[in-house]
Amino acid sequence: MPIITGMENNKIYYSQNSDRVMKHFRFIDSHTHILPGMDDGAQNVEESEQMILSLSKQGIEEIFLTPHYYSHKESVDNFLQRREESFQALKSTLYRSGMKYRLGAEVYAIPAIFNYANLDNLCIEGTDLLLLEMSSPKSEPEHELNLIAEIYSRYPIKIVLAHIDRYPFMLKQKVFKQFTQLDVYMQLNLNFLDAGFLTKQRCLKYLKQGHIQFLGTDCHRITGKRSPEVEKYRSQLKAKLTEEELNDIY
Ligand SMILES: [Fe+2]
Repeated sequence: MPIITGMENNKIYYSQNSDRVMKHFRFIDSHTHILPGMDDGAQNVEESEQMILSLSKQGIEEIFLTPHYYSHKESVDNFLQRREESFQALKSTLYRSGMKYRLGAEVYAIPAIFNYANLDNLCIEGTDLLLLEMSSPKSEPEHELNLIAEIYSRYPIKIVLAHIDRYPFMLKQKVFKQFTQLDVYMQLNLNFLDAGFLTKQRCLKYLKQGHIQFLGTDCHRITGKRSPEVEKYRSQLKAKLTEEELNDIY
């Protein structure tokens, strides 16, 4: 799989290491709600620590910390200040765990984001990648496509579409192609493998075609349906994808 080796001009660079793919299929957990007290994710440092340890035991070595950001409810500055406080509370735990991390956000796709001249600080730390949550699984794809185009016309950033498995319109190949033509990265939640037949098959196909660059747990709590679950999905993916296909994932 590609392993991030460094950054230049604000972009992630990576190298391939097929040996690691065969042995373990390592990837970044690119979507988590582990920062304590930020949103409907971890409620305190103790819960965050348990989630980090759980991911670590399951072979995850790097996480993106991506709390929800809603621009119609809170200014970017206020969000960043809250995020910094939450991070400071978790910092020593993160260091102790040895888990690599990058601060980020899961930015809700709504026109209120255009109130801000600069979205750089919402991007995944050290990159120009913005994790964008489309407004609704029921929305018109045109609405989402237009908003993405508008973001690209205003900001020098690259969009990673969060959990594309959650949007039925992304299963329509014609619509999906329109999104790929906008030059966006895509992220799948690992539990797409528990979804219905069509979602599962289509997402596997998109993975095989190299359209998906990021996987994530989108973990919110230490217990329940949104707990950090990696191991069972990793073995399923290893069984379904070739080494070359696994290599396309960060
Ligand atoms: Fe999320």
